[in-house]
Amino acid sequence: MTTSQPIDLRSDTVTKPSPGMRRAMAEAEVGDDVLDGDPTTRKLEERIAALLGTEDALFFPSGSQANQAGIWLVTEPGTELLIDANAHLIHYEMAGIAALSGVQIRPIATPDGGGLLTPELVREALRASSPHVPRVTALAIENTHNLGGGRVLDAAAVDGLIRAARDAGLAVHLDGARLWNAAAAARVTPARLAQGADTVMVSISKALGCPVGSCLGFRKDRRARAWEIRKRLGGGMRQSGILAAAGLYALDHNLDRIAEDHANAKRFAEILSDSPTVRPSDPQTNIVMVDLQRDGATAEAASARLAQAGVRMSAYGPKRLRAVMHLDVSRGDVERAAHIILATLR
Ligand SMILES: Cc1ncc(COP(=O)(O)O)c(C=O)c1O
Repeated sequence: MTTSQPIDLRSDTVTKPSPGMRRAMAEAEVGDDVLDGDPTTRKLEERIAALLGTEDALFFPSGSQANQAGIWLVTEPGTELLIDANAHLIHYEMAGIAALSGVQIRPIATPDGGGLLTPELVREALRASSPHVPRVTALAIENTHNLGGGRVLDAAAVDGLIRAARDAGLAVHLDGARLWNAAAAARVTPARLAQGADTVMVSISKALGCPVGSCLGFRKDRRARAWEIRKRLGGGMRQSGILAAAGLYALDHNLDRIAEDHANAKRFAEILSDSPTVRPSDPQTNIVMVDLQRDGATAEAASARLAQAGVRMSAYGPKRLRAVMHLDVSRGDVERAAHIILATLR
């Protein structure tokens, strides 16, 4: 058992605000965002809208709430949403699509479970219109894909999906909780990967290291409706500039370093690839899935043993652990963690 701080690779949400970020938060100019606006929140929304190439954006307390608002905005109750079967929107948002938007999901299995849809899969999932089948109103895509191990839809893949959706008259919602990572990996701007989507969710509480927050980008004429939905969900925040200031700070200081997390993920997987007892994924971004190879090994037991040894990872399946690189772990931490895993799961 180690006495030093554990190396926490459970998620990129575990980062703590840095002293500089805390100062920016403390000094933020604020107002009442529900009553008549908060200037710092508005500044963040405008900055994010510009980065996403959307006309406008709204600040939300969480990615889940912004995702749900996005689906609500582009669907109608009693219709269907096409979405990959391993989407965060299906598995980790408390059935919000059904409960809040009144929409039926039509999950599309991807061949390797990696969650990356293709235009062909979307077209195959569409049924001929008939008085017996529900209308499909939208397609949801996730980039990068969390359960898929941080895999990336590049610009050509996104274009193909948008075209397939448009040909069928569908709106498109993009769950871009880690769109910053996708853009860094694909070497394009976030706006390029958001091009053509009607609603775009991005998080500031993951790769960017903020304590709280996500934004939803959309067309200007959707702002009033988006605001109404957020209020209904209990997401109207008052002096939210305190939180938005962290986002503005992060865009200035933490956006350009994301590729370091991707390089750390590669290094982590490289060290683990020597072991017969674990098989790491080949990471495209900051997430590495680690599959246990030994008969009888379970992710729950492995994760408990690793926590004792000073490395925290999440169980992501019966024999799968997830490690996520972020700005609070250095190259040295990542190498140390990989060697602890090799020694502990021998
Ligand atoms: C792909 C994806 N979408 C949405 C979310 C939801 O974000 P939040 O935890 O801020 O609700 C997450 C969170 O990990 C995620 O990985």
